[in-house]
Amino acid sequence: MKSFKIALYPGDGIGVEVLAEAVRVLEAVQTRMGDFALEMTSFPWSVDHYLEHGHIVPDDYCEQLEAFDAILLGALGDPARLIDHVAIRPLLDLRQRFDQYAGIRPARRFAGVDSPLKTEKPIDLLVVRENSEGEYVLCGGMLKPNTPEQVAVQTSIHTRRGIERILRFGFEQARRRQKRLTMVTKSNALKYGMTLWDDVLEQVQDEYSDVEAGKMHVDAAAMNLVRRPFDFDVIVASNLFGDILSDLAGAIVGSLGLLPSANINPERKYPSMFEPVHGSAPDIIGKGIANPSGMILSAAMMLRWLGLEEAAGVIDAGLAELFVRGDVTPDLGGKETTKSMTDKLLAIVKSG
Ligand code: NAI
Ligand code: MG
Repeated sequence: MKSFKIALYPGDGIGVEVLAEAVRVLEAVQTRMGDFALEMTSFPWSVDHYLEHGHIVPDDYCEQLEAFDAILLGALGDPARLIDHVAIRPLLDLRQRFDQYAGIRPARRFAGVDSPLKTEKPIDLLVVRENSEGEYVLCGGMLKPNTPEQVAVQTSIHTRRGIERILRFGFEQARRRQKRLTMVTKSNALKYGMTLWDDVLEQVQDEYSDVEAGKMHVDAAAMNLVRRPFDFDVIVASNLFGDILSDLAGAIVGSLGLLPSANINPERKYPSMFEPVHGSAPDIIGKGIANPSGMILSAAMMLRWLGLEEAAGVIDAGLAELFVRGDVTPDLGGKETTKSMTDKLLAIVKSG
């Protein structure tokens, strides 16, 4: 029997709540399929851990995680108790240390789920986010802090190698989908970093002549995601732009709580990490109403990455059925709680 070691990293807020539900689903699917085993180990790294031990993660947390086949993460951040850039840093560092340069974030409009947009046309797009460099590298400094002359320097790092590999990854994804790729840029204002993106697109796109490729400034892309979301297939974007546009993609398909994501190291040299697109949602923490779908779909993406296609399909199909039935959490207009929605999914999974 195939066996996989999975690291669970619940984090903070609703991250803890939704990850617990995803684990129940994984256990049920494992029982139903009977042909694989998941050995799951949970790590307590969080703001609570920080307040108790003085650090969110131990120095060797990446070394500890490296031994796993995959990482399943809830969400980090508890802004009322710890400044966000400290609380979130382990996540950004992990993506960089494990060279999880491909952030893949599918956004699909499910049957039964209302979109705030008027269009009835299907929305099915994939945000491919450069996940390892760009605007989120820790590069900068502060001069004359707490004085009227204070200066902040925050430098983005865009490398030809980093852009080329994410663009190629995006083209490969497009080939398996609708064969359309939109690269997000802002080269009219960001003369160095974003013109490099434009140049690399021009250089590689001829090798993918079967894919219809183009570029769009990020402001226009935001507008068009609202106006004509059905025109998009694969969107390739820098770290910051991909982050922003994926929340918008969540909103237009009905809820941010629906969106899964994968932080992939395509070469499989390091473990990849799977997490919902949303954060720790302090406004609904403890209310039991967080939509578990994004987390559970992330767990399905993890199974697929591990080669367990059929098991992933069971989860996807079960959730699709709940959406049609309207057995969903309040963000989607339903009356279910995080737990009762998962209970209904478990009933479907177990009945198969
Ligand atoms: P957020 O994504 O946590 O929440 C934005 C809005 O969406 C809130 O109104 C929230 O209630 C709602 N929402 C999010 N997930 C939901 C779900 N599953 N079901 C129903 N509603 C949901 O973003 P926000 O409020 O900007 O950040 C909160 C904290 O999360 C901060 O500390 C932030 O830094 C952190 N964060 C962490 C991320 C991560 O760990 N990957 C990603 C984004 C934010
Ligand atoms: Mg985000």
